[in-house]
Amino acid sequence: MAALTVIGVPGLPEIAAGADLAALISDAADDLRDGDIVVVTSKIVSKAEGRVVRADRERAIDSEAVRVVARRGPTRIVETRHGLVLAAAGVDSSNTAPGTVVLLPEDPDGSARRLRKALADRRGVRVGVVVTDTMGRPWRTGQTDAAIGAAGLAPLRDHRGEPDTFGNQLEVTIAAVGDEIAAAADLVKGKTTQVPVAIVRGLAELVTDADGPGAAALIRPAADDMFRLGTADVLYARRTVREFTAQPVDPAAVRRAIAAAVTAPAPHHSEPWRFAVVASQRARTALLDDMLAAWVTDLRGDGFTPEQIARRVRRGEPLRRAPLIIVPCLLAEAAHAYPDQRRSAAERAMFTVAVGAAVQNLLVALAVEGLGSCWVSSALFCQPAAAAALGLPAGWEPMGAVAVGHPAAAPPPRPPRDPDHYMLTL
Ligand SMILES: Cc1cc2nc3c(=O)[nH]c(=O)nc-3n(C[C@H](O)[C@H](O)[C@H](O)COP(=O)(O)O)c2cc1C
Repeated sequence: MAALTVIGVPGLPEIAAGADLAALISDAADDLRDGDIVVVTSKIVSKAEGRVVRADRERAIDSEAVRVVARRGPTRIVETRHGLVLAAAGVDSSNTAPGTVVLLPEDPDGSARRLRKALADRRGVRVGVVVTDTMGRPWRTGQTDAAIGAAGLAPLRDHRGEPDTFGNQLEVTIAAVGDEIAAAADLVKGKTTQVPVAIVRGLAELVTDADGPGAAALIRPAADDMFRLGTADVLYARRTVREFTAQPVDPAAVRRAIAAAVTAPAPHHSEPWRFAVVASQRARTALLDDMLAAWVTDLRGDGFTPEQIARRVRRGEPLRRAPLIIVPCLLAEAAHAYPDQRRSAAERAMFTVAVGAAVQNLLVALAVEGLGSCWVSSALFCQPAAAAALGLPAGWEPMGAVAVGHPAAAPPPRPPRDPDHYMLTL
């Protein structure tokens, strides 16, 4: 049977900027052998690389993070420039002088490659190197170490296509051996025992001649990430998108988005939202042509010349460029009747805002599906024409139309808005 040995490497001094880690590890681990895997806590790599900065911890997290995935109270789970998703961007204020924080290495795979080369030069050994950091897991209590940098090691062991003990082919199993090695090493390193390095012996088959893909290979590509949006950024993920690719929109994604839309609040326990999904070319052409005709009639009525009208309507709308159009409608049959104008208007407003809530749900849910959208007002300005063009059931009032498709480009960053500007605390 295969045996695995994990050996702590004690005796390393406190690491300062500029320290020669390879020399220190080489001296402390005098029994380093070919095929060993040297597992190093990222904190000492950071310290040696001068990544200890005098900074406020929260500011340091701001500068290390590219995306806030989730937030609760002061705790932020963020994505770092490396693509790692972890609490506080890996910024650590423990085991460092007061007023200073330790940032993750700039390029942990690069750090691992340099350390491996220096160990090979110094000792003539062919080892793998793993740089680790400690992370929580969303569905599991407690933290464990994971590989954030690697060199000379296959970080993933692909078992797909191999038979299991019953002869069935394995379909999804890719062992994250880089992370498993990091976690095993953590069992002997410990946070407080001053043992920031461990040797994992017995996995020589994972040690490679080439530096290999590094721990970057352990980061799940965004397209495969079913939990891409965290609770903090789901609302921010919706941006108005006006340019789309030709890729068709999956009807199942639209159904899911409409299911989310109809969780919106509504008055009198009513369900005043309806959605016309304009899927056929016939319905689409009828809608766009009839809305255009209504618009031209309005512009003529405003006194514009035919040239001015032609120029205006040429501007085109996102609706024409979108692979799919959804027309959200108000069905106000549950609205109460009032004898006076004031209460009638309030009742009407109540139902109108309820559709707004549902449309926002729809747009956010589409964004979660990776779909861009633009809520376009034109159908509101010609409700009878839009309803007639689509042959909508009686009482369905189009509240604009939503252009839907795969975004042609990432929307520009949203300018920050200060909540104080929009609120009054009384
Ligand atoms: C009721 C409503 C009607 C809109 N009508 C149009 C429109 O006719 N054409 C358009 O390009 N965008 C339209 N928009 C989208 C806004 O222009 C967009 O929300 C705004 O530029 C802010 O960008 P954001 O959605 O990315 O935050 C409309 C938005 C709302 C809520």
